[in-house]
Amino acid sequence: MRIFSNLIFVLVFGLVGVTFGGNFQQDFDITWGNERVKTLNNGKLLTLSLDKTSGSGFRSKKQYLFGKIDIQIKLVPGNSAGTVTTYYLSSLGSNHDEIDFEFLGNLSGDPYIMHTNVYTQGKGNKEQQFYLWFDPTKDFHTYSILWNPQSIIFSVDGTPIRQFKNLESKGLAYPKNQPMWIYSSLWNADDWATRGGLVKTDWTKAPFTASFSNFDALDCSSKSNPCSKNSSSNSWFSQALDNSGQERIKWVQKKYMIYNYCTDSKRFPQGFPPECSLP
Ligand SMILES: *[C@@H]1O[C@H](CO)[C@@H](O)[C@H](O)[C@H]1NC(C)=O
Ligand SMILES: *[C@@H]1O[C@H](CO)[C@@H](O)[C@H](O)[C@H]1NC(C)=O
Repeated sequence: MRIFSNLIFVLVFGLVGVTFGGNFQQDFDITWGNERVKTLNNGKLLTLSLDKTSGSGFRSKKQYLFGKIDIQIKLVPGNSAGTVTTYYLSSLGSNHDEIDFEFLGNLSGDPYIMHTNVYTQGKGNKEQQFYLWFDPTKDFHTYSILWNPQSIIFSVDGTPIRQFKNLESKGLAYPKNQPMWIYSSLWNADDWATRGGLVKTDWTKAPFTASFSNFDALDCSSKSNPCSKNSSSNSWFSQALDNSGQERIKWVQKKYMIYNYCTDSKRFPQGFPPECSLP
């Protein structure tokens, strides 16, 4: 009976493509730092640590060509100046595509910077940076990357903070051919991270630890439920920002954005990149 009901369960949920969230132990490999990467609670929780000898990191076993990735992170608490916690998607090689979240630590009580960037065919230079509207070290918060053929949407706790649109019709490159892995790492970057490198890592506070939980990924690999614009269970694949999403982005950008490459005229004396002036 038990086996039978489990079988029904697998059949039913397998067919409708419901996911129950990932498992750090099963879905990721340790890429560096060895024992500095720890999985706990049967793979539901993972911690990365950084000490003077090394940082640490992990990478998904699977590659994604489009996906909706959610991960909860609790950043390094206390004096995290000089440390950088990353969570990003990337393909390989010099013409790689990449979608980045990076969290730049700070002295206790001073704000983290959330740094975002997109690389298309090896070219980045599309940075936007934000302060957060909460203390990212007190609790877990959800950082999401929605990547589909129309756009890339970065969200924090369900609030969209940045959209990178597919503007191929205007001749601009868009990541859509190279599968990407999910990566995460914690490392020392005190030559640039905090106030441009002015504040150094305080190694007396090491090891520094960031925690990850509730990893969840929807992608196009399910044979029973391949991605198509029509499929209601893959609605993420055709999802676009609605009006309220546009309003939320405006609110975040107005109140919390501290750097936007599209307004940095010193950096682009010959004129801003074309996507900056396209709707
Ligand atoms: C750290 O705090 C200082 C002072 O409030 C601020 O200027 C800076 O943007 C903060 N974040 C980082 C990563 O430097
Ligand atoms: C999607 O829906 C349209 C109209 O409802 C239909 O013509 C088309 O064949 C569908 N495509 C797929 C891949 O199911």
